[in-house]
Amino acid sequence: MFWSVYIAFIITLSITGSTATSSPGLNETKWLDSRRQADAWVSRMNLTEKAAIVTGSLTGTCIEYVAPVESVGFGGLCLQDGPAGIRLAHLASVFPAGVTISATWDRELMSQRGSAMAAEFRGKGAHVVLGPSAGPLGRSPLGGRNWESFSPDPFLTGVAMDQTIRAIQEGGVQGSAKHIIGNEQETQRKRTVVDGKQVEAISSNIDDCTLHELYLWPFADAVRAGVASVMCGYSRVNSTYSCDNKHLLVDILKGELGFDGYVVSDYMATMSGIDSASFGLDMNQPGPMLSDLTKTAWGDNLADAVHNNLFPEARLNDMVRRVLTPYLYLGQNTPDYPSVDPSSLYLTLENFGLLQPWMPTPAGRDVRGNHSALIRHMGAAGCVLLKNVNNTLPLKESDITNIGVFGDDAADVTSGLVNPDDGFSIGTLGIGGGSGGGRNSFIVSPLEAIKERAREKGGITVQYITNNTALSSGVPGALYPWPDICLVFLKTWETEGADRESLEADGDSTAVVENVASLCPRKTVVITHSGGANTMPWASNPNVVGIIAAHYPGQESGNAIVDVLFGDVNPSGRLPYITSNRTEDYGEQAQILNVTGPAATESWAWQSNFTEGLMIDYRHFDSNDIDPLYEFGYGLSYTTFELASELSVSVRSGPVSPYPGTVPTNSTLALGGNPNLWKTVVTCSSSVKNTGSLAGATVVQLYVSLPQDDVPSGTPVRVLRGFDKVFLDAGETKAVSFALTRRDLSYWDVEAQDWRIPRGEIGISLGFSSRDLRRRSTVKII
Ligand SMILES: *[C@@H]1O[C@H](CO)[C@@H](O)[C@H](O)[C@H]1NC(C)=O
Ligand SMILES: *[C@@H]1O[C@H](CO)[C@@H](O)[C@H](O)[C@H]1NC(C)=O
Ligand SMILES: *[C@@H]1O[C@H](CO)[C@@H](O)[C@H](O)[C@H]1NC(C)=O
Ligand SMILES: *[C@@H]1O[C@H](CO)[C@@H](O)[C@H](O)[C@H]1NC(C)=O
Ligand SMILES: *[C@@H]1O[C@H](CO)[C@@H](O)[C@H](O)[C@H]1NC(C)=O
Ligand SMILES: *[C@@H]1O[C@H](CO)[C@@H](O)[C@H](O)[C@H]1NC(C)=O
Ligand SMILES: *[C@@H]1O[C@H](CO)[C@@H](O)[C@H](O)[C@H]1NC(C)=O
Ligand SMILES: *[C@@H]1O[C@H](CO)[C@@H](O)[C@H](O)[C@H]1NC(C)=O
Ligand SMILES: *[C@@H]1O[C@H](CO)[C@@H](O)[C@H](O)[C@H]1NC(C)=O
Ligand SMILES: *[C@@H]1O[C@H](CO)[C@@H](O)[C@H](O)[C@H]1NC(C)=O
Repeated sequence: MFWSVYIAFIITLSITGSTATSSPGLNETKWLDSRRQADAWVSRMNLTEKAAIVTGSLTGTCIEYVAPVESVGFGGLCLQDGPAGIRLAHLASVFPAGVTISATWDRELMSQRGSAMAAEFRGKGAHVVLGPSAGPLGRSPLGGRNWESFSPDPFLTGVAMDQTIRAIQEGGVQGSAKHIIGNEQETQRKRTVVDGKQVEAISSNIDDCTLHELYLWPFADAVRAGVASVMCGYSRVNSTYSCDNKHLLVDILKGELGFDGYVVSDYMATMSGIDSASFGLDMNQPGPMLSDLTKTAWGDNLADAVHNNLFPEARLNDMVRRVLTPYLYLGQNTPDYPSVDPSSLYLTLENFGLLQPWMPTPAGRDVRGNHSALIRHMGAAGCVLLKNVNNTLPLKESDITNIGVFGDDAADVTSGLVNPDDGFSIGTLGIGGGSGGGRNSFIVSPLEAIKERAREKGGITVQYITNNTALSSGVPGALYPWPDICLVFLKTWETEGADRESLEADGDSTAVVENVASLCPRKTVVITHSGGANTMPWASNPNVVGIIAAHYPGQESGNAIVDVLFGDVNPSGRLPYITSNRTEDYGEQAQILNVTGPAATESWAWQSNFTEGLMIDYRHFDSNDIDPLYEFGYGLSYTTFELASELSVSVRSGPVSPYPGTVPTNSTLALGGNPNLWKTVVTCSSSVKNTGSLAGATVVQLYVSLPQDDVPSGTPVRVLRGFDKVFLDAGETKAVSFALTRRDLSYWDVEAQDWRIPRGEIGISLGFSSRDLRRRSTVKII
């Protein structure tokens, strides 16, 4: 009896693919071949041609462009925004935002999103995706662009960068990891001129340890994944503009991380002329001009500088080689690479407000394929179920005859299909604004999808009020009979160029929820469309029985949420950030710096000292014992899970040194840093069981606690270092295993300038969120 149960257990125990991809994302032989071919091309080009390749050209129709050099067969490069799909396009998809895909904690979906995006960029003739983004990482929850990136946790973001970049480049398109680095707020992100005085951009003053363990971490993953390009941002690091920062670009990115591709400037982020090329910048975009438009950067100037011995030709050759190698490696010089979509010209004009009524608007090439199904699937997978009293959800169609739908985010858009919201008008919000947004070819609103669902079922009334001004000013009338369930849709507008001023959802949302909840006692469910954390002052209102954070789902918004509400999809998203009722809980330092008054016009006023170091998001809450609203890693399901076996931990056999040692001399490419950092040192395993009666997925999370007595002060009490999304039928058990690399178990030793595994007991905890840790163990390596 015992043995048969045991054997049955073993049989159902299939190991899931949990360990991170550890091999470098480039085929070294092929890369070196491509590099040799690039060098051969370089040797055949004259100075003018070489300077042209590293300088953008305004002759193209893409947002950024490099002109062809016919003498060697280089076809030019079309670079397009952005991180959630090709932005300036007709008949392209708007994918879920970075934050949404990270909320899935699903490596496979991250990869599928990257592949689908690559297919669309390639289909439109673009060679470079200006994304994905890991900067901002999300130092402050108020950061206006956090949603474009993945998560304030560097490990989770690192995995998302890795999966996305590999998938994009396997699709034959170059990735551009952005923005290096410390691009953590939008306020004063660029140099401004106030009353005739030049005021420099915000300077992110980041210490060495924080740089390595937090902000640079996901860029190391990006380089490891073989990313073709890295984009430097607008702001300054330690008072030096990122695109002029030699320590960052040359010593750290190209030196320590072994990056062999090219550094490209953000759109007009080049601050100095030839100097920036000496400081490590390899490509100036969008054309031969500087940020202030008064001077020209590069192009013929660079050729002249070389000609006059003011700039070394070897460095120009290096720049050209860096630009050409990924182009050749990915086979972008083949004749079957699609040409740039002719509609691109008019869309770029439209973007700059230059499209005139008399101009043609030719239809774009339709590159959407069947991506709608994937987008719907990802949108549902990015939903995090935060509250579900008495299993109110999923809605049981048999019990429901009358659905109330409320809130300005429920309705169809009223201000157009490009970033269709300014946060004030009525209309659903599928993606944020700026270069990370997109042009929807359609968007399915929640109300539309709910009505469709009700029509299919028959016999269901759908009543709705989508005017927040009306909803917030009192209990609305005109409803009869009272709904069986009230769904309140809230939105939070976030955009490039501005930080959030509050964590509350828009449109007087608190009053809206409270009024609907009073009308709909114990039957109110709130759904948020937001790019990150929100305060939820109504979270413990007993009449609010359900809450779903649905993030920015892209064009299939309504269908995705209906799938979750009606139980076609069992929610399995987990929060990729922490939430709190109070903005102050995030810490005094990790706020948006907003210099006001006369000081704001001082040239050097904008200094943001990252004195909180590693203590952002959940690390800050956990290390300071602050109660969150919903913690990092949290999320409910329509079924239940438990860890079904002990946590077993084993150390690699043989002695392990505290430092990774010198880089092996036989490795030409040390992508992402010393290869020894990426070797597995500790393996952990356990198993997880679906204890409910519905199939579903959970995310098993592994946190590491370094011994506080052998690490610098300011080291968080625990950090995420492994996760596995596991799909389980009702009653099913699966094994999970985690391979922890040397990097996962080390801290950055500033004196040694190297990663070091601390002496003593390292804590390992396994569970279902950062605060729901079910198994603990320790391991001593040194
Ligand atoms: C790497 O590239 C080389 C040269 O293109 C090729 O022969 C080899 O099969 C590739 N290796 C792998 C593992 O794909
Ligand atoms: C460089 O080569 C191009 C042809 O590819 C030619 O038009 C141009 O004159 C050459 N420039 C110089 C300075 O030789
Ligand atoms: C910034 O300055 C600090 C303090 O001097 C130094 O530790 C750190 O390495 C610098 N970071 C960068 C990216 O230059
Ligand atoms: C979309 O089409 C591709 C082939 O064109 C297929 O491999 C894939 O399974 C389809 N995906 C969905 C979600 O239907
Ligand atoms: C929304 O409701 C307010 C208050 O009832 C009203 O003044 C306003 O005109 C309504 N807006 C729209 C777009 O219907
Ligand atoms: C910064 O201050 C200005 C001027 O007081 C204000 O208009 C702006 O909203 C503030 N920005 C943020 C993100 O709080
Ligand atoms: C949940 O169910 C319990 C037990 O039936 C009941 O006492 C409680 O009022 C219910 N809560 C809500 C919010 O309906
Ligand atoms: C940032 O640090 C610098 C140098 O230590 C100091 O002068 C400045 O006052 C600090 N800024 C803020 C806003 O704390
Ligand atoms: C959040 O705020 C609400 C309303 O002020 C309160 O009832 C609830 O307890 C708060 N929750 C937390 C975790 O602070
Ligand atoms: C480099 O040397 C190490 C140690 O001898 C070996 O394990 C590794 O495979 C070698 N790498 C290459 C690319 O030859």
